[in-house]
Amino acid sequence: MKAALNKNYWDSRYQDGSTGWDLGGVSPALRAYIDQLENKDLKILIPGGGNAYELAYLHQQGFTNSYLIDLSPTALANFKKKNPSIDEKFLIEGDYFEHSGQYDLIIEQTFFCAIDRTLRAKYADQTHQLLKPSGKLVGLLWSDDFGLDAPPFGGTKEEYLGYFDSLYTIQTMSKSHNSIKPRAGRELFIILKK
Ligand SMILES: C[S@@+](CC[C@H](N)C(=O)[O-])C[C@H]1O[C@@H](n2cnc3c(N)ncnc32)[C@H](O)[C@@H]1O
Repeated sequence: MKAALNKNYWDSRYQDGSTGWDLGGVSPALRAYIDQLENKDLKILIPGGGNAYELAYLHQQGFTNSYLIDLSPTALANFKKKNPSIDEKFLIEGDYFEHSGQYDLIIEQTFFCAIDRTLRAKYADQTHQLLKPSGKLVGLLWSDDFGLDAPPFGGTKEEYLGYFDSLYTIQTMSKSHNSIKPRAGRELFIILKK
């Protein structure tokens, strides 16, 4: 039977340590993107950030208006323990689809592929609503659909364009050249502008 991808599901994955998606460090493609950003005042959100190495990196680099939202209290508690100097106000426990706010940049990494497939159009809409005018959704999406009935679901560029093309200017949606080895050639780097 298909598992409900709710708070209990995700929190128990962190409690059990069954977090096969976790890179254990900052994604190289996102690090490279962050490193070329000049405006440290950008308001940034990482949805479904989990252990959120990128959030810690953003704060270390002076992007101190950067937030994480995740359903899992365990993931947030783990983050707090590892990053005691980052104020709790930057860690939002909650559902991305119920969040409100205005951000310059939303960072995607293995969140879109983890939500139920029926929520994909809603993700495109919700992200659009959370972005300021000219704000950007930037990150990584799988380039193949894995045909699974549990995450990661994956997807294809054609399918993604169906959700995003009418709402965003697609500045980049092409093979990532700096994925981690096990994901090399299997990810698209996206820069979508509201
Ligand atoms: C596959 S994990 C990826 C975590 C992290 N982005 C990474 O790459 O290590 C998916 C994450 O999304 C979170 N999540 C799932 N549905 C969510 C929702 N509706 N709102 C907020 N977080 C959610 C889960 O708790 C989990 O941390």
